[in-house]
Amino acid sequence: MSALAGSKVLLSWQEDFNVGIEGVDAQHQRLLVLINGLWDATVRGTSGPQLLTHVDELARYTRYHFADEEQAMQGADYPQLAAHRRAHQGFVARIAAEREKVMADGYVTLDLVRFLQEWLVNHIAVEDKHYAAYVLGNAQRMSFFSRLLRRFA
Ligand code: FEO
Repeated sequence: MSALAGSKVLLSWQEDFNVGIEGVDAQHQRLLVLINGLWDATVRGTSGPQLLTHVDELARYTRYHFADEEQAMQGADYPQLAAHRRAHQGFVARIAAEREKVMADGYVTLDLVRFLQEWLVNHIAVEDKHYAAYVLGNAQRMSFFSRLLRRFA
């Protein structure tokens, strides 16, 4: 993944962020691009409606990504779905609060930048990896049982 030439990067993609599900990793990489885009805009002094477009795009894509993940967790009967969903809701609420600040003051806070950094590292590399391992394990178990059932059919 390459950043735009000359743009400021808050965080680069690391192998450790991969959760092992190709589509999810691609969505996470897209999220990283959007977060870096917001950071770059902030560093360049972008404010007001222009900055708002970055926040809104991040919020929109995050909701899309979370819905996909929660559907996968639900499909696999992931036992920690409720807690994971709460973490997602917390993120959405945080971005919504930040949007209000941009509307009022024109700028995002450095606190948001720290939050996004921590969220990427802790949520993706820990919580998402946890559910992904469960979903992948579940798919293998289903595949094993369906092969087993076919043998007795
Ligand atoms: Fe990829 Fe649970 O967010």
